[in-house]
Amino acid sequence: MNKVTVIGAGNVGATVANVLAHKDFLSEIVILDIKEGTAEGKSLDTWQQAPIDNYSTKTTGVTNDYARTANSDVVVITSGLPRKPGMSRDDLISVNAGIVKSVTENVIAHSPDAIIIVVSNPLDVMCYCAYLAAKKDSRKVFGMAGILDTARYRAFLAEALNVSPKDIQALLLGGHGDTMVPLPRYTTVSGIPVTEMIDAEKLNAIIERTKKGGGEIVNLLGTSAWYAPGAAAAQMVEAIIKDEKRVFPCCVLLNGEYGFKNIYLGVPVKLGKNGIEEIIELKLNADEMVLLNSSASAVKEVMDVLDNMKLF
Ligand code: NAI
Ligand code: 2OP
Repeated sequence: MNKVTVIGAGNVGATVANVLAHKDFLSEIVILDIKEGTAEGKSLDTWQQAPIDNYSTKTTGVTNDYARTANSDVVVITSGLPRKPGMSRDDLISVNAGIVKSVTENVIAHSPDAIIIVVSNPLDVMCYCAYLAAKKDSRKVFGMAGILDTARYRAFLAEALNVSPKDIQALLLGGHGDTMVPLPRYTTVSGIPVTEMIDAEKLNAIIERTKKGGGEIVNLLGTSAWYAPGAAAAQMVEAIIKDEKRVFPCCVLLNGEYGFKNIYLGVPVKLGKNGIEEIIELKLNADEMVLLNSSASAVKEVMDVLDNMKLF
């Protein structure tokens, strides 16, 4: 009997809830939004889809009523402004930090043992903000970005190679921004090193497109993506509730791993019922380390903005 709460019933939050309902392994999903009627409406719509798509997970929508989220096993935080054309993810911090802080405090007051997955942007720093607000073990407060960014990389590769996206395995490190670090050395097509199947120029073009993958969709839609982000967060919830020990890139607090301390960054982890059960430390080469350092510096700059807001 597992309960999951999704905070924010916008594009991403409603998709997380809808994908999770379709997976049919939870007893209840509560969706909470600050905007009157939004969570109730999206929840009702998802519940009315149940007889058609054959699932029985109950969805409940509430307006700011945290009592209804009590005793959740996992809480996914998607509340906050999305990017608009011309904005970077980092431009969102002044509004989203306040939202993520207050939401996390409310969540923890009613579900002190919950594992928290942050989706709101700027992702790496919003994870740090939720961690400070939750005041709990960082292995239980972490973020979704790497699964999405890696999925974009895998999808672009599948298209270029004319193979199924299912057969592309890949890994990507670093912050959720244009400095993210896709790793060709850890990219295979069913075990075949990708470099044996694509020339360097094409691979580099795909890496560059991946780094700007979020912005590509913002420019097309006028707001950011939701199908792939929602599915990615739902995959993390599933790994936790089913204790699957899946290995995913997630945004976690590093305490010495990869040479970084007190910073949230995307790295491969093992995900199970205890949250982050292991941080997997790869032996990066010098070039990869330079890229990861530059990604960490970009995240640090946004962390400084959070510090200067004096919210904590
Ligand atoms: P959206 O605007 O569709 O939905 C956001 C929802 O949050 C709205 O319904 C709004 O009413 C609600 N909200 C605002 N303040 C709230 C509060 N204090 N309590 C409860 N609900 C509140 O935005 P969308 O597209 O769903 O994106 C949500 C966030 O996720 C954005 O910050 C976006 O940048 C981020 N995002 C992150 C991704 C990642 O890879 N980590 C991928 C895609 C989006
Ligand atoms: C994305 O990558 C904007 O973070 C959002 O789609």
